[in-house]
Amino acid sequence: MMSLSTALLLLANVNTEQGIALAQTIPSLKDKFKKDFLIGTALNNTQIEERDPQTTAFIVRQFSAATPENIMKAGLIHPGWDKYNFEMADKLVEFGRKHNIKINGHTLVWHSQLPFFIRGIHSQDSIRTFFTNHIKTVAGRYDGKVFSWDVVNEALNEDGTLRKSVFLQYLGDDYITEAFRLAQRASPKSELYYNDYNNEQPAKRAGCIAVIKKIQAANVRIDGVGIQGHWHAGRLPLKDIEESILQYAALGLKVMFTELDIEVLPRNFQGADVGQRMVANEQSNPYASGLPDSVQQQLAVDYEALFKLFLKHKDKISRVTFWGVNDGDSWLNNWPVRGRTSYPLLFDRNNQPKPAFEKVIALTK
Ligand code: XIL
Repeated sequence: MMSLSTALLLLANVNTEQGIALAQTIPSLKDKFKKDFLIGTALNNTQIEERDPQTTAFIVRQFSAATPENIMKAGLIHPGWDKYNFEMADKLVEFGRKHNIKINGHTLVWHSQLPFFIRGIHSQDSIRTFFTNHIKTVAGRYDGKVFSWDVVNEALNEDGTLRKSVFLQYLGDDYITEAFRLAQRASPKSELYYNDYNNEQPAKRAGCIAVIKKIQAANVRIDGVGIQGHWHAGRLPLKDIEESILQYAALGLKVMFTELDIEVLPRNFQGADVGQRMVANEQSNPYASGLPDSVQQQLAVDYEALFKLFLKHKDKISRVTFWGVNDGDSWLNNWPVRGRTSYPLLFDRNNQPKPAFEKVIALTK
């Protein structure tokens, strides 16, 4: 007689197969936008390791690009002065190769999620050595294996001045150009991008354009600019987004939306500064037991307007990446307040399409 565990395993397999078959009936974002731009997602460890076949099948059907949510950040990939941990990044590259998904390396130079040992370093020489070795080693290993790099992430303040990061403090304001120069040398076969949040806002955009022009004036390669796109329901800055697409494209750059999500939960500030937090109160997690229809519809209206704009400028936009596969994966469940129930993406916690998904797909018909 069949043991209970074998029976359960068989049942699980049947369920998995059914789940995969059902997911195949959902229209595919990457196919619907195939002629327009790549459709990307952020990936976490569980997804990269393909621990759940249903999730893998779902990702492969929906997305043509992927960005590691965390594993290529310096703190994880470069945990000690001479110590690198490439295991997960190698797996991600293999995932991309196997499933025909373009990988965007995120990110070489960022002030956040740095290795702990950086805190003990207070000399310009040592910071420069870290900076140079890090870019050479990481960008060199994955040259041509990743389609592109976010070479520098979030180097700007809201007013367009340079953020006072450890790199600015020790290396001076040429460090961004220098990062691109090193990346270009180490990774000649991958595209090179500058990435930030709120860089569609006029002041920060002006700062971003100044950074880009400086890189170009030094004859250093920069291929594109990423606008993260962490926005808020009912408050999309559509005019600023359109103006930014035009201005960045006029510099000869590809424009990308690299970390798209639309927040529906209360927030007392805009943007995506990971260091910024909010104190939880009774009002901070209003939809723990479900999203009211009015908010669901607002999200649909917003995503529709956004993708309409993206399609209008599809000749300038090369990729639109969501920051997570489904609502359950989103970092917005834990930032800027821990343990909230957020609904910022196109798929719900069971990978079912939300009204916003239907609206976006309808634009392609
Ligand atoms: C976030 C990740 O989603 C979280 O898991 C992590 O705890 C913090 O960083 N801008 C970026 C991303 O460029 O790397 C950040 O990702 C979100 C904001």
